[in-house]
Amino acid sequence: MSDQLRFDGQTVVVTGAGGGLGKAYALFFGARGANVVVNDLGGSFKGEGASSKAADVVVDEIKQAGGKAVANYDSVENGEAVIDTAIKAFGRIDVLLNNAGILRDVSFKNMTDADWDLIMKVHVTGAYKCARAAWPHFRKQKYGRVINTASAAGLFGSFGQCNYSAAKLAQVGFTETLAKEGIKYNILCNVIAPIAASRMTETVMPPDVLEVLKPDWVVPLVAVLVHPSNKTETGSIFEVGGGHMAKLRWERSNGALLKADSTFTPESLLAKWDDVNDFSKPQYASGPADFMGLLEESKKLDSNPKGTPFDLKGKVAL
Ligand code: NAI
Repeated sequence: MSDQLRFDGQTVVVTGAGGGLGKAYALFFGARGANVVVNDLGGSFKGEGASSKAADVVVDEIKQAGGKAVANYDSVENGEAVIDTAIKAFGRIDVLLNNAGILRDVSFKNMTDADWDLIMKVHVTGAYKCARAAWPHFRKQKYGRVINTASAAGLFGSFGQCNYSAAKLAQVGFTETLAKEGIKYNILCNVIAPIAASRMTETVMPPDVLEVLKPDWVVPLVAVLVHPSNKTETGSIFEVGGGHMAKLRWERSNGALLKADSTFTPESLLAKWDDVNDFSKPQYASGPADFMGLLEESKKLDSNPKGTPFDLKGKVAL
């Protein structure tokens, strides 16, 4: 079909492509003409062990369907080796899908350094290492597309997942900066917070819910974002799953402005606390507040209100 979004001649690296979402991406790009690097360490969802089987099965499936794919069994922490597989097998890399991930769920009280460190290594260092190794190729050819994988747990918090939440929100800052640095070289970077049935979610969601959260339904958004026809969408955060896709953005409250003089005290801030919480005229911020301009504005203010600790009206206990 000529109106398909095709990826002929392009090389797509999918990390953690041995199962779940990564497998769905790999099979799709293989079917749409791309050369696919199927990376997977093949360990447990807690990051224990390793096996070549997970990646091999997906490579075989792509090849049997007439596509082109090679396996890579390195941990994403060894991003150089992952990207090297693409260069050696296909001579180029066009798209990097940073998808590999594990869980080490435990309440913060019981979190160990090992649980924290492993999650940071796989999600944060892994995404960094793969992108870092791909970057010179993207810059040289003035073309690159990157998807990083966040999570609702990172955006909103999730009980028992403080390590994972921290690592997943890191993907947002990482992506937004890569987007800024990459745009000049036609390197577009976006971040998704997916939801899908996989071994990661199968123990926490009931079967009827899992049934409507097919990994395949995350694929169209990713395909659109990394296709050459996307020339502008970059640095964006998307929620995606179960057939729903939406964009998230920051919202800044109206804010309190106080005069920066000796009357600027915690009590004077309390008197203006409602302004801090006032979202009636939100700014959809894509950068920091104009602090210099606001400072000039604040100079024009009269002295600050005196206020008392009771001005919070019980909203915050002091
Ligand atoms: P999954 O467990 O089915 O797939 C993850 C794959 O990554 C596995 O095949 C695993 O072997 C591989 N992997 C793990 N550590 C690796 C490493 N160091 N190097 C290379 N490969 C490694 O999980 P799923 O659900 O497909 O997750 C994919 C991504 O989406 C992950 O980053 C996950 O955190 C994220 N995510 C998934 C959600 C969901 O609802 N399934 C929700 C939010 C985020």
